[in-house]
Amino acid sequence: MKRFYGLPVLLLIFLVPLVLQAQNYVGSDACMSCHGSADVTQAGYNIYEEYMKTGHPFKLNPVSGAPPVYPTNTSPGVPEPPHGMTWDSLSYVIGGFGWKARFVKKNGYIFTANDSAQYNLWGSGETQWVPYHKGEAKAYNYNCFKCHTTGPEPTGSWNEITPDLGTFAEPGIRCEGCHGPASDHMASATTHPPIQADSLRYHRCGDCHSRGSKTNMIPAKGGFIRHHEQYNEMQASKHNTMGLTCATCHNTHVALRYPDAAGTDNNGNPLSGIKLECENCHPNKQITFQDGSPHAAECTDCHMPNASKSALGAQLGNGWKGDVATHLWKIDTRAVGRDSMFTPDGKYVRLDDNGYGAVTLDFVCLPCHQDKTVEWAAGFALDIHTNGLVGIPESPIEIPVDFALLQNYPNPFNPTTTIEFHLPRTTRVKLAVYNTVGQEIAVLANGVLAPGKHRVTFYANDLPSGIYFYRLEAEKQIFSRKMVLMR
Ligand code: HEC
Ligand code: HEC
Ligand code: HEC
Ligand code: HEC
Ligand code: HEC
Ligand code: HEC
Ligand code: HEC
Ligand code: HEC
Repeated sequence: MKRFYGLPVLLLIFLVPLVLQAQNYVGSDACMSCHGSADVTQAGYNIYEEYMKTGHPFKLNPVSGAPPVYPTNTSPGVPEPPHGMTWDSLSYVIGGFGWKARFVKKNGYIFTANDSAQYNLWGSGETQWVPYHKGEAKAYNYNCFKCHTTGPEPTGSWNEITPDLGTFAEPGIRCEGCHGPASDHMASATTHPPIQADSLRYHRCGDCHSRGSKTNMIPAKGGFIRHHEQYNEMQASKHNTMGLTCATCHNTHVALRYPDAAGTDNNGNPLSGIKLECENCHPNKQITFQDGSPHAAECTDCHMPNASKSALGAQLGNGWKGDVATHLWKIDTRAVGRDSMFTPDGKYVRLDDNGYGAVTLDFVCLPCHQDKTVEWAAGFALDIHTNGLVGIPESPIEIPVDFALLQNYPNPFNPTTTIEFHLPRTTRVKLAVYNTVGQEIAVLANGVLAPGKHRVTFYANDLPSGIYFYRLEAEKQIFSRKMVLMR
């Protein structure tokens, strides 16, 4: 009972000081003095240390003459400043940890000048420079930092450098971004706990992980769900109806997108950003073939495909590949394409009579089965967990007998060229471009691909003229070829 009356009061206590008395802001680095050891908390690990390896603190990275540094085993970072800029002419990099990086100039405006304004990392996809609001003057102001920072430093203001850019002592999203300033708690850890209960476990996440209001209308654009709508998506799922929260599955103190960065608990067990796996609640969902052998995909490959997307640029294969995992979970088993996933104007995900959305089979199956169609997939999808994969059809397409990496065309090129490679069977591959000193310039393919002839386009925007190498790695074999960029 107490919680229901206590919560609004708590919110007031923490929100009012944040807004009215920014000069009293207590930096979340202070949390480390107590939570920076495994013994203080129930968690059984060093919360601060682990947290600093997740994406959250790296939303805004100060630049001082050199690129920002990311924790070991996480982001490769941004190799160079955008075209025509030096690190000295920039004050912050936004992101650069997960999918993309944008750059804040000294005057508080986001760098938007030309085609190389945004650097896409795409974790397991292609790295490349793409335009971002070409030529528009876009300020890094409250519109961004309500989700991308925790707050101003104690002595500074939001506006010290320009009317649009503050000074951030602890840039990025720190403990207080979710828990509130918690100054009281620090005086008395037991009597004034920071923001707790469902506000923290679910709705607080939606302050940043939803666009617009917290409804189950899910914004879409260009045939993909937009990129940070996890809250809206979950509202449109049965998991929400069943009372799950974001924190049912997630431990936001532990790195998710870079599992190799996560440490261990007091007992030496590896930590995971996912607290509960699908199988904990849905046992016996393994999909098998007639002979009992398992199908290659994991639960999340089919149920959380990358149907969300924000970035511009090249598409791999047949284009059913965004850059963010969906949180709808439900699969539409009909032989329909992605158009029917959205409202006719393309602006929202279509909801059924119960307010649920579902992801179509092109997003679910075709990213791996690139030469197949939704009609093919629909032949298996209905009751797939009870039926398994029976009645496997003969594949009508011509499968190459061996691996091959062909010469790019055109060559020499400026600035785009096509690279073709052949795969005799479904396999994990990596195709990347390197410069003459062996630095990786771009990753053109990285993941499980179906057998067949694959073509990808390489965009050499903003690279200097010269010789480059492209390399295909598949089943421990390496194929390499040379190409020439001539401006
Ligand atoms: C003076 C030491 C100290 C500082 C500084 C401190 N904490 Fe704590 N905190 C504690 C202790 C002790 C506990 C109780 C132990 C436990 O619940 O594991 C606690 C508990 C918590 C809890 C759990 C409360 C509950 O009811 O379960 C949260 C959340 C928390 N702290 C967040 C923070 C945040 C965020 C900061 C920084 C803004 C912070 N703490 C700074 C000592 C501190
Ligand atoms: C992205 C949001 C978010 C941020 C940022 C965050 N936390 Fe938490 N924290 C949570 C959630 C959600 C829970 C509750 C988990 C649950 O109920 O299962 C929690 C629980 C806790 C607890 C109590 C449970 C435990 O594991 O002992 C402590 C202590 C805590 N956080 C400290 C911190 C500290 C210190 C930081 C900064 C280093 C921090 N948190 C940053 C979301 C966050
Ligand atoms: C103040 C805004 C804000 C809040 C509140 C917030 N997030 Fe985030 N979250 C972000 C941003 C921005 C990113 C992108 C970070 C990146 O990858 O660089 C992110 C990234 C993540 C990631 C990927 C992180 C990783 O390590 O790979 C997860 C998972 C996540 N958020 C879950 C949550 C959950 C669950 C909550 C609520 C407990 C929450 N977030 C609250 C802004 C927020
Ligand atoms: C409603 C909250 C919100 C607002 C407002 C917002 N963002 Fe984000 N942003 C996020 C979240 C959440 C993510 C992580 C994407 C995801 O989880 O799907 C993100 C991701 C990013 C990334 C990619 C980071 C990475 O490492 O991959 C960049 C860059 C970015 N935002 C820049 C901006 C800029 C610039 C603005 C202002 C023009 C802005 N954002 C406004 C919530 C927000
Ligand atoms: C905490 C338990 C829990 C976890 C963890 C969980 N689920 Fe569920 N899920 C449920 C419950 C409960 C339902 C509703 C079951 C019903 O209606 O019969 C459900 C329903 C579903 C549905 C049916 C949706 C619909 O609208 O028909 C799918 C698909 C699903 N879950 C997939 C997943 C996947 C994939 C994961 C892992 C990413 C996962 N679940 C993790 C509890 C969980
Ligand atoms: C090859 C793709 C694929 C994989 C892998 C997959 N699923 Fe499914 N799953 C489906 C499809 C398609 C449906 C829809 C079946 C229907 O509605 O008749 C479904 C339905 C479901 C449902 C709801 C209906 C039901 O049959 O219970 C749950 C729950 C579920 N899956 C959980 C899981 C879990 C847990 C895993 C991982 C162990 C998993 N799935 C792996 C494709 C997949
Ligand atoms: C049923 C479990 C479950 C729930 C509930 C859940 N997530 Fe996730 N989430 C996952 C899993 C599993 C992944 C990793 C997907 C993968 O492996 O591709 C993930 C990934 C993410 C990512 C990273 C996306 C990416 O593509 O890298 C973000 C951000 C995120 N979740 C935020 C949230 C937020 C915010 C909520 C609440 C609104 C939430 N999640 C609820 C299971 C869940
Ligand atoms: C993560 C990648 C991935 C996803 C997603 C995926 N598959 Fe597969 N699938 C594979 C791999 C790998 C094989 C093994 C091919 C082989 O052994 O030759 C395979 C084999 C198959 C086969 C037998 C071989 C064939 O081509 O006829 C069928 C049928 C099949 N999958 C159906 C589906 C359906 C239906 C979906 C979506 C509901 C799906 N798969 C989603 C990777 C995937």
